[in-house]
Amino acid sequence: MATYRLTVNGQPRTLEAEPEMPLLWALRDELGLVGTKYGCGIGACGACTVHLDGVAMRSCSLPLGKLNGEAITTIEGLSAEGDHPVQLAWLEHDVPQCGYCQAGQIMSAASLLNLTPDPSEADISSGMSGNICRCGTYSRIHAAVKTAAQ
Ligand code: FES
Repeated sequence: MATYRLTVNGQPRTLEAEPEMPLLWALRDELGLVGTKYGCGIGACGACTVHLDGVAMRSCSLPLGKLNGEAITTIEGLSAEGDHPVQLAWLEHDVPQCGYCQAGQIMSAASLLNLTPDPSEADISSGMSGNICRCGTYSRIHAAVKTAAQ
């Protein structure tokens, strides 16, 4: 066991955990932030996407022992009122179907726009390609990312 002092959604959080514990489980089980979802557990679906210093990361594949003081942002902390441009575009385009993957989709989209504020069609396709949606909302996701970039 080790003590981890994390900055999550701008707040200092402390937990005792094994260094091998994936950040996803620390967020969900230890800190009660269940907006970040478990999909595959092997870094292949994107459901567990959070930001480290504004950049998308798969929290299921990131052990606590690998963290280096980065600011962690989850879907709960992306905006104060659910009014991040990506969230507003998601509402405008009525993107979700079942909704399970959508927190990860939104976090990936927000990271994409942090890194590439004016993305091309190809940038959006490649930037979002690691996030799987089994309902097939891809065309609405693509359109919403374009709207959020405007
Ligand atoms: Fe982490 Fe699928 S649950 S990528």
